[in-house]
Amino acid sequence: MKTIAILTSGGDAPGMNAAIRAVVRAGLDRGFKVMGIQRGYSGLLNGEIFEMNRHSVSDIIHKGGTILRTARCEEFKQEEVRKKAAQILKVFGIDGLVVIGGDGSFTGARLLSELGVATIGIPGTIDNDLPYTEYTLGFDTALNTVLDAINKLRDTSTSHERISIVEVMGRNCGDIALYAGLAGGAESIIVPEKGYDMDEICKTILEGKLKGKMHNLIILAEGVGGANELAEKIEEVTNVETRATILGHIQRGGSPSAFDRVLASKMGYRAVELLAEGKTARAIGVEGTKVIDLDINEALAMPRKFDEKLYEVARVLSY
Ligand code: ADP
Ligand code: F6P
Repeated sequence: MKTIAILTSGGDAPGMNAAIRAVVRAGLDRGFKVMGIQRGYSGLLNGEIFEMNRHSVSDIIHKGGTILRTARCEEFKQEEVRKKAAQILKVFGIDGLVVIGGDGSFTGARLLSELGVATIGIPGTIDNDLPYTEYTLGFDTALNTVLDAINKLRDTSTSHERISIVEVMGRNCGDIALYAGLAGGAESIIVPEKGYDMDEICKTILEGKLKGKMHNLIILAEGVGGANELAEKIEEVTNVETRATILGHIQRGGSPSAFDRVLASKMGYRAVELLAEGKTARAIGVEGTKVIDLDINEALAMPRKFDEKLYEVARVLSY
């Protein structure tokens, strides 16, 4: 192993920069040449590849987004296109590739590894939807962003004695809603893994009102969707003014939390260790505070997880 490369792919996530920094510096420390590939698989196909040094990653640990930029590249799903990508990596003398992204990006990495490119995946997505790892990079920061919004919405909905519905991201995964709902003291949490019962939600609201609750907070995962329609229905049934807020892409930005920076640094360092050990097709994750790695095929094949216990904790503590 002499030359390694790194790219970010799919939706950006806070902590990607900290992971890039870790891969570059850990790689240089081992005497590797380190290349940055811009705009994910799309940039790889265009040969947007440049050499990086310690200075290339100065002053980025605290920055959201990704200095390498990111992209979605539909054509990468074609084998012929991936063969071209493998050829380009060969031309640049790249022996190992670190891919930071979500399950789609990992699928691309897995297929590239079948073409003889040593690939390592670092989970970077706010969604926390990779079942093999407890946390993905960006999830913690996104949660804190949502929490900040919830705190602000609580002020205004208390003043007006309104119901507030907050729609959060996560694709088909309810983790952002679940964790933010628990941390924000929401009265109801609606996730795609559990669905919801309209009567139950309205009952909770009306009971809360009788107990003197000044506001009611509902966290809705985008995988369920329909915040505005839900607000209309709730207002109709309960006769309590209801507002919906769709947080959108602010959840993807911002300076990464300490947790995400530490996780990114540990994962980036481990990615380089794995390449130095001659490993390929590995997915890096975390279990508790321990960084783990497993076969990327196995990682991608794991069934979706949902923390039923945490959902129950949130439910019991909410009234
Ligand atoms: P994420 O990595 O965040 O899940 P996407 O699902 O959009 O984001 O995937 C990012 C990129 O990964 C895609 O644009 C494509 O280049 C690549 N990718 C996704 N699915 C596949 C696949 N089945 N085969 C090869 N590459 C894929
Ligand atoms: O995967 C991250 C994510 O932010 C999802 O939560 C969301 O569904 C999607 O990406 C939004 O994608 P885009 O940035 O293309 O609108």
